[in-house]
Amino acid sequence: MCGIIGYIGPKQVTPLLLEALRRLEYRGYDSAGVAVLSEPVTGEAPRELQVVRCRGKLSELEGQLAEGAPVGHVGIGHTRWATHGRPSDENAHPHRFRSVAVVHNGIIENYLLLKRSLSDRGHTFSSETDTEIIAHLIWEELAQVEPGPDRLLLATRRALKLVEGAYAVVVLCTDTPDEIVCAKSASPLVVGLGDGENLIASDVPALLPHTRRVIFLEEGDLAQLTRSRVRVVGLDGIERQRPVRQITWSLLAAEKDGYKHFMLKEIHEQPRAVTDTLRGRLLHSPPSALLDGFEIDPTQVRRLFILACGTSYHASLVGKYLIESLARIPVEVDLASEFRYRDPIVKPGDLVVAVSQSGETADTLAAIREAQKKGAQVFSIANVLDSSIPRASSHSLYTHAGPEIGVASTKAFTTQLIALALLALHLGRRSGNLSEEAAADFVHELTALPAKLSQVLHTAEQLQQLARTYGHARDMLYLGRGPQFPIALEGALKLKEISYIHAEGFAAGEMKHGPIALIDEGMPVLVLAPHDGGYEKVLSNLSEVKARGGRVIAITTEGDRSLTALADHVVEVPAVHPLLAPVITVVPLQLFAYYVADFKGTDVDQPRNLAKSVTVE
Ligand code: AGP
Repeated sequence: MCGIIGYIGPKQVTPLLLEALRRLEYRGYDSAGVAVLSEPVTGEAPRELQVVRCRGKLSELEGQLAEGAPVGHVGIGHTRWATHGRPSDENAHPHRFRSVAVVHNGIIENYLLLKRSLSDRGHTFSSETDTEIIAHLIWEELAQVEPGPDRLLLATRRALKLVEGAYAVVVLCTDTPDEIVCAKSASPLVVGLGDGENLIASDVPALLPHTRRVIFLEEGDLAQLTRSRVRVVGLDGIERQRPVRQITWSLLAAEKDGYKHFMLKEIHEQPRAVTDTLRGRLLHSPPSALLDGFEIDPTQVRRLFILACGTSYHASLVGKYLIESLARIPVEVDLASEFRYRDPIVKPGDLVVAVSQSGETADTLAAIREAQKKGAQVFSIANVLDSSIPRASSHSLYTHAGPEIGVASTKAFTTQLIALALLALHLGRRSGNLSEEAAADFVHELTALPAKLSQVLHTAEQLQQLARTYGHARDMLYLGRGPQFPIALEGALKLKEISYIHAEGFAAGEMKHGPIALIDEGMPVLVLAPHDGGYEKVLSNLSEVKARGGRVIAITTEGDRSLTALADHVVEVPAVHPLLAPVITVVPLQLFAYYVADFKGTDVDQPRNLAKSVTVE
């Protein structure tokens, strides 16, 4: 949930840490801090830890550092999203105990127990966090370890053996000033390999200004970074070889690219993101889809589940329509947070598809582990390379959306829809339920999507106008049928999370069973009415809303003649295969939410109380 950076090399470290934290701020932003090892004044003078940290966004920290920044060439930094201990100066990282400073992302589950036993041994604490105990434990272990080149590594390893829970932790120590030690369990850490310098971060964008050569640390890895070397060992102390990867994302891709907000940039990136997600995966003759080497024999699949949270859950609901229509295989879609706690009936032979942008969502990860325990095979659809969910799965299909920085998910959603469409096509062909002709048509429609996405982005100006008209609304309803129902849910979620307007998505047919009581002149209703099998029914629902004084924005297929008379506003989108229409109809809803939030002046990319990846339950 937090952003971590560490650096050792010849550069002045404080500005470097701040720049990296700026790129990681989407991971958490309730407090921030840095710890820097001072330079020796004379040959053997002891080093000092200079720690500056404060509550608030990174700009607060920058303000403090403007009055005098620590000078040095080795340092660590952190941007926090609170889990243990409210956001405050004292709870901000880095946490320090005597010679040791640490930054941490994750949750130490047995911290109360450890804190109690440390207290019994005379330790006192300066924060309410679980993190602080790590600094205390490492300091204690250091006292037990003979001086030598691996002293900090060994002490950290021993300390972490006492710890239960999730951590990505980076450690700095005045006794061992020529190294940084870090460790990973359940929370991400990436080493950046430089020339005469090395870095560690919780995510790639922080490393890109310095290097493109990275090592993704794996579960239970510890790494020792000096200026010239990186060593990876396990908690057992045995050396581990990890592949060096070359990152191909442009630096620009991790920045705003001239847009006012990351979210707007990411909405506009969708034609490219969809193209990249389709690249090399469509077969034209005979028509089918490749799943990066994963072959599914539908006759061997007993039951198919899709598990996810939030926006990824909405994509999964569309996935159910796709798979059931094209492959005629029943699909059960579950919120990962519910699935894991309801003793689900899962057996060997079941296939679980986990959908996650970050690949780090704790509920989804725990749900797939539960399914695996019961014998199911797990296939994941994820955006972040080598993240925990794909690593825990037997096969993965990456969405290639690129880094998504805005907390509100947009391009990750549309690319998840594409990945699920590929899965449905694959299953449809292998199950024999999708004819060659229908598959060829579907492939053709998929190929045409990027151009149609570019076209639908031209509605931006109209949506900006509508946002000005309805930006003062207190509540809003979204209605859809069939595969447009999950889009109604997604549109409402987008509006809620960034504009703080209360919004609800409903299956249009459910209106008469209750929600219609909410309709009056003060309740704008957005109706998804593309030309598909549910169109006529949606028109009736829309008329019911109008008859009760509701104001209606309709999203429909271009050339529609019926809606102009019925709706207050009509937004036209390109015609597309009904099962792929969600990829298109969601875009005006993303733009509407974005412009309402921008109109209201809320923090679009970092909405209150939210974080990009939810790595705690
Ligand atoms: C989407 O806008 C949200 N911020 C959130 O619902 C998100 O989709 C959810 O937390 C799941 O994340 P994941 O896709 O990274 O697993």
